[in-house]
Amino acid sequence: MMAPGSQPNQETWRGRRVLVTGGVGFIGSHVVDALVSRGAEVRVLDNLQAGREENLRQVREAIDLRIGDLRDPQAVDAAVRGCEIVYHIGANASVPASVEDREYDFKTNTLGTYHVADAAVRYDVHRIVQASTAAVYGPPQYTPVDEQHPLMPISPYGGSKLAAERLLSAYAHTFEFELFCVRIFNTYGPRQPRYVAYDLMMKLARDPRRLEVLGSGNQQRDYCYISDMVAALMIAGSRPIERVEVANISGGRTTSIRELVALILETLGLRDTEVVYGLPSWKGDIDVLSGDIRRFCSFGWQPEVPIEEGLRRMAIDLGLLPSEER
Ligand SMILES: NC(=O)c1ccc[n+]([C@@H]2O[C@H](COP(=O)([O-])OP(=O)(O)OC[C@H]3O[C@@H](n4cnc5c(N)ncnc54)[C@H](O)[C@@H]3O)[C@@H](O)[C@H]2O)c1
Repeated sequence: MMAPGSQPNQETWRGRRVLVTGGVGFIGSHVVDALVSRGAEVRVLDNLQAGREENLRQVREAIDLRIGDLRDPQAVDAAVRGCEIVYHIGANASVPASVEDREYDFKTNTLGTYHVADAAVRYDVHRIVQASTAAVYGPPQYTPVDEQHPLMPISPYGGSKLAAERLLSAYAHTFEFELFCVRIFNTYGPRQPRYVAYDLMMKLARDPRRLEVLGSGNQQRDYCYISDMVAALMIAGSRPIERVEVANISGGRTTSIRELVALILETLGLRDTEVVYGLPSWKGDIDVLSGDIRRFCSFGWQPEVPIEEGLRRMAIDLGLLPSEER
């Protein structure tokens, strides 16, 4: 166990041995980039189920990449051994996939988290940062949702991630490691393989004349650009905490799907696109997801990238806008 007072602060990542599970994926690969640039020694565990190795091309030589599965206790044990801090980001991250393949979702998100927690106990991990999700809240009883909101998930994904949070919290108290659970709301940006902003842009790339949108278009979301998310995650890995901390991270601005569609059309300079709403959405979809981020902001963080700018950067990254506009 690391001595009290020796916790890393935001500037002291140099030489820290950090494991990033899911480090090949969207959020995970950006976290790996940030840790490497701050001088941490980074190991990644990922089974490439959703992530692409190409996401790590800028740092490939600097990291220890282990292709392995969270469902495999030995792979997790070997990955955790020797690390002080674990960013546990690997997961089935999709609600529809959790409905389709419940076993994969449970075994990765809940059992896989047990493997991480158990290895953390064996190897004296100092802190785990758990990438949790707004889906643990379920349909909001009030908005924006704060951390005291009841936890009533309505998808296998929300259930498996809530079980993971609770298990980690119990282990953190029993075995005296630190846990920072970040409840992530919709995140978007380069390297994202799915979700609404990406899906809409890709549909428009295929056919700019007509856009079919799932649901009524009135669903509301709270979008956080990836660089803001990573800045928050760096704080979650380094800020002194008591034992267990739980805080929402979102963009702090609610946007309906209709507004998002209008912003994307404007970003791409499309004026004559026919937009059709009403395609059935997926089971477990939630109408309003809007996060109260005052707790995280009290740690000295705030989202900086407005959605208009984030969408522009994403469109450039997808090759839908010329890169000279960067
Ligand atoms: N992107 C969002 O808007 C969002 C919102 C809420 C929560 N989250 C959480 O953030 C985390 C990252 O999400 P993301 O959007 O980057 O998704 P992602 O799918 O890009 O990343 C998940 C990574 O985990 C890996 N993985 C999946 N199953 C695995 C297994 N059995 N063993 C090892 N690795 C495995 C995948 O290959 C992938 O690289 C997830 O824990 C997700 O629940 C994301």
